[in-house]
Amino acid sequence: MQATPQTFANRLVALGATLLLAAASHATAQERVVNLYSARHYQTDEALYANFTRATGIRINRVEADDAGILARLKAEGSASPADVILLVDAARLWRGEQDGLFQPLKSDLISKRIPPALRGADAGQGPQWVGVSTRARVVVYDKTVLKAADVDSYEKLASPALKGKLCIRSGSHPYNLSLFGSVLERRGSAQTEAWLKGVAGNLARAPKGGDTDQIRAVAAGECAVAVTNTYYFARLLRSTAAADRDLVAKVGVVFPDQAGAGTHVNISGAAVARSAKNRDAAVAFIEYLTSDDAQRLLADGNNEYPAVPGVRTDNPALAALGAFKAETVPIAKVGAAAAQVQQMLDRVGFK
Ligand code: FE2
Repeated sequence: MQATPQTFANRLVALGATLLLAAASHATAQERVVNLYSARHYQTDEALYANFTRATGIRINRVEADDAGILARLKAEGSASPADVILLVDAARLWRGEQDGLFQPLKSDLISKRIPPALRGADAGQGPQWVGVSTRARVVVYDKTVLKAADVDSYEKLASPALKGKLCIRSGSHPYNLSLFGSVLERRGSAQTEAWLKGVAGNLARAPKGGDTDQIRAVAAGECAVAVTNTYYFARLLRSTAAADRDLVAKVGVVFPDQAGAGTHVNISGAAVARSAKNRDAAVAFIEYLTSDDAQRLLADGNNEYPAVPGVRTDNPALAALGAFKAETVPIAKVGAAAAQVQQMLDRVGFK
């Protein structure tokens, strides 16, 4: 039977509908994946991703590397990068990614409502290029048999002559320290900060080496009397079931510096949408999900951190033992942006 013009037209319509359907399902297939480059490597983050996929049907493909590795990879991949969302664990590194043009503005009313402005990247009107999703404080630990809390209850005191040859700290150029020093720079200006850094470098018990946990161990071992660490490293030791770790933390006191002043320096782990994200809407949806109460709890508990969203409560015995504290109010965008100037100061004062 020959097709009448009418049935031919019907077939065309049907074909058109089929093509539309195919296009729609192709689009859906593209939207249902988020390619995540993450510098967070915690078991509980698995629950985060699973909950998001369960709620939205969007699958998470994850690539894990450290901050520097992720930034290098994004640069090398350029516009061909499959990355949609980037998770990094420090403000100075997030700022570096922004400077290198690796992210794009993140505009979301929900995220603006949930994450305080002080925990977001700079916003020129298009939205910030990154937002904090959890926070960690940079605290001082000390040998209780040698010092009192009052000897080390401010960052300023780390440069005091009384602590000559007593201080252990990881490399000055490590992003955690660049951010801490950037916060001091924001508070006290360049002349005072550089003089302070010179004093800190002059108090070192040994050349900087290892990570924050190594500094805590060095205090417990008597190699130094005071050290600097992010809260989660100490909390991890507090929650350890190993007897040696419990003996170690029993010898060491913790101080949240500057409680009588501007508050303790707080850094972030934060999220950004990749510059050439192919699944942009899903990427934003994932970061929005990270600001939900449940996700905030998982993000914080996974690494003994604090939620970035105000009012979200966690149930973490180690953080409860450390107690509440006053956090600084310096915008994290300014802290991150200070990294380059801080590095020049470190070079001048010889703080490796
Ligand atoms: Fe860390």
